[in-house]
Amino acid sequence: MIIKQSEFIKSAVNPSHFPDPEFPEVAFAGRSNVGKSSLINTIVNRKSLVKTSSRPGCTQLINFFKINGNTFFVDLPGYGYAKVSKTIRSQWGTMVERYLKQRENLMGVVLLIDIRREPQKEEFQLMEWLSGRGIPCLRVLTKADKLSRQKQINRVTELSKMMMCEKEEMILFSATSKQGKDEILKELDMLF
Ligand code: GTP
Ligand code: MG
Repeated sequence: MIIKQSEFIKSAVNPSHFPDPEFPEVAFAGRSNVGKSSLINTIVNRKSLVKTSSRPGCTQLINFFKINGNTFFVDLPGYGYAKVSKTIRSQWGTMVERYLKQRENLMGVVLLIDIRREPQKEEFQLMEWLSGRGIPCLRVLTKADKLSRQKQINRVTELSKMMMCEKEEMILFSATSKQGKDEILKELDMLF
């Protein structure tokens, strides 16, 4: 997939505000601060199409982007941010769950996991839920630049065991070095 054009469409919470599902769509999901917004900026070759922040909880709404005039990318707010109140956390759950359940044009989910962290119950729940519905899930290990090449390889082995998947089913990614960018674009191409 070659991304030539990208534009912000809108932010939404309720399905009634989502854009018409007129194009195939892929959503980017993962813990707060894992690097979802940074990954989108990297693959669309824009420095700040999506707002990023070192402070977790930056993306709070569901953000829709139109890519090449014929595809949607969706930046989901991150989960697991300890500092938000219980009410906000449950609102997050409702918001994202509703999105995942209702979006008929959803072709797949890119699940981001920090290469240095262990997947938690949210990641396992999401993977199980997606596989139950036959929605493809692409696993991306983010912030690979934080580890040496050898440590990256070791983590791929460890994480593939934890997530019961093949090593080949995970992509090492860094927004800093752009490692893994082409691989992600290739996978998205196949998804669409
Ligand atoms: P929320 O919107 O809060 O859910 O976070 P997010 O997942 O969108 O994360 P975001 O892209 O805003 O990045 C969070 C922080 O991690 C920022 O300070 C980024 O600069 C940093 N970051 C993101 N990707 C990478 C990466 O590949 N390598 C390094 N070293 N830092 C990264
Ligand atoms: Mg974000």
